[in-house]
Amino acid sequence: MMHVDWKHVAVTLAILPFAVVFAAWIGFFNVGASSGHWKITDWFLHFAMQSAIRTYALAVDVPRELPHHAVQTAAGHFARGCAICHGAPGEPRSPAVLRMLPQPPDLAERVSGWSDAELFRIVKHGVRFTGMPAWPSQKRDDEVWAMVAFLRRLPALGPEAYRDLAYGPAGSLVDRPATFQQALAECTRCHGVDGRGRSTATPVIAGQRESYLLQSFAAYAEDRRPGGVMGVVAKAIDRRHWRDLAAHFASLPASRGRAGAATALLEPGKKLATEGDASRRIPACLVCHASRDRNPAFPSLAGQPAPYIEQQLRLFRDGQRGDSGYGHVMREVARPLSDNDIAALATYFATAESRPAHPMASARD
Ligand code: HEC
Ligand code: HEC
Ligand code: HEC
Repeated sequence: MMHVDWKHVAVTLAILPFAVVFAAWIGFFNVGASSGHWKITDWFLHFAMQSAIRTYALAVDVPRELPHHAVQTAAGHFARGCAICHGAPGEPRSPAVLRMLPQPPDLAERVSGWSDAELFRIVKHGVRFTGMPAWPSQKRDDEVWAMVAFLRRLPALGPEAYRDLAYGPAGSLVDRPATFQQALAECTRCHGVDGRGRSTATPVIAGQRESYLLQSFAAYAEDRRPGGVMGVVAKAIDRRHWRDLAAHFASLPASRGRAGAATALLEPGKKLATEGDASRRIPACLVCHASRDRNPAFPSLAGQPAPYIEQQLRLFRDGQRGDSGYGHVMREVARPLSDNDIAALATYFATAESRPAHPMASARD
């Protein structure tokens, strides 16, 4: 039988950390990326990554259905925040990126290997030691799920369909928009030229009050309103254009309300919006959201897409919405709302006609 000399083992174990530090100190470990990892290091790192993601994904709450209505927004974010490393349909990865270690993979080839929960975990938290960044806001799981929905669509997405989703009328992406026209083109990628939004996850900003738009934009840029998508956009736009952008969209014709929602939710939504429910301490929404002569920081809700309104109300209720200065009142308002109330209110406001901003505006409409 082999004789184990425990004294030697103990001494070796005690010395080992010092030996490793010494090796690091004399520069033994090659941190250069040019020669790649040893095969065993590469295998071990990916083994550790896959195991960790599999384990942590067990704790992820997967929604019943992915938010496919928000895929356009996610594609728009992908163009600014992901394509630079991973490439996109019709846009191969740059030679500089291919020298990274590890290489950011072409995601179209990879996504099928991960479950929805695993993709969520990777996109929300990033991957340490690889360069794969975390989602810019840790409070917006809804945005991360929208990205998962987009990634699921990626393998079948041709270059043209991708360009349309990600760039819309702008046709391309300007990395650092400098002129007002470039800044405006950036907005149209998701909000459209008419400011009504290219998907129901994007709010109508046409005809919204200028001061609300300006304050909201600033709130995203300064992280007072959590949002990975708008946060990245707002930080890329020079401050001197903010007011002009807000004025531009405020001057466009307001939304006219969306037709076709004669559902059973319409009446209860209208009742709650106009009268509130005193027994549950819910105030009438229209006290603040109807009269346009009130505080200009109160946004108009008429004609906003129902999924957008629902999402914002859920964020207020969870204390995750952030605001542009007056949002604390909305957190109180949203706390007692049930999921049913939220769906009813969203249905009502989505179909409501927007009132003109002031008497002059009706002539312009
Ligand atoms: C700075 C470069 C960089 C950016 C930006 C980036 N990634 Fe990554 N990503 C990586 C690297 C590197 C890996 C790890 C590759 C590996 O070791 O397998 C990775 C891995 C991934 C994976 C796992 C794929 C796999 O099988 O390894 C997904 C999914 C992913 N990224 C999605 C995204 C999304 C979505 C975005 C934008 C929100 C994004 N990435 C932004 C560099 C980047
Ligand atoms: C990649 C898509 C995308 C781009 C590009 C984009 N937006 Fe947005 N915008 C959104 C989404 C999605 C929301 C809703 C965000 C949320 O849920 O917090 C939003 C919200 C906003 C809001 C808040 C509106 C409200 O009712 O609270 C303002 C203001 C805004 N965007 C202005 C702009 C301006 C100005 C630009 C151009 C500089 C721009 N956006 C570019 C997708 C985009
Ligand atoms: C006391 C005034 C007040 C009342 C009452 C009120 N709100 Fe608000 N609401 C606000 C303010 C202020 C904001 C803007 C918060 C911010 O971003 O700064 C807002 C924002 C919102 C938004 C987000 C709009 C957007 O474009 O992102 C929604 C949705 C909303 N309210 C729905 C409701 C509903 C539904 C009710 C009734 C149940 C209601 N509000 C009652 C003041 C009020």
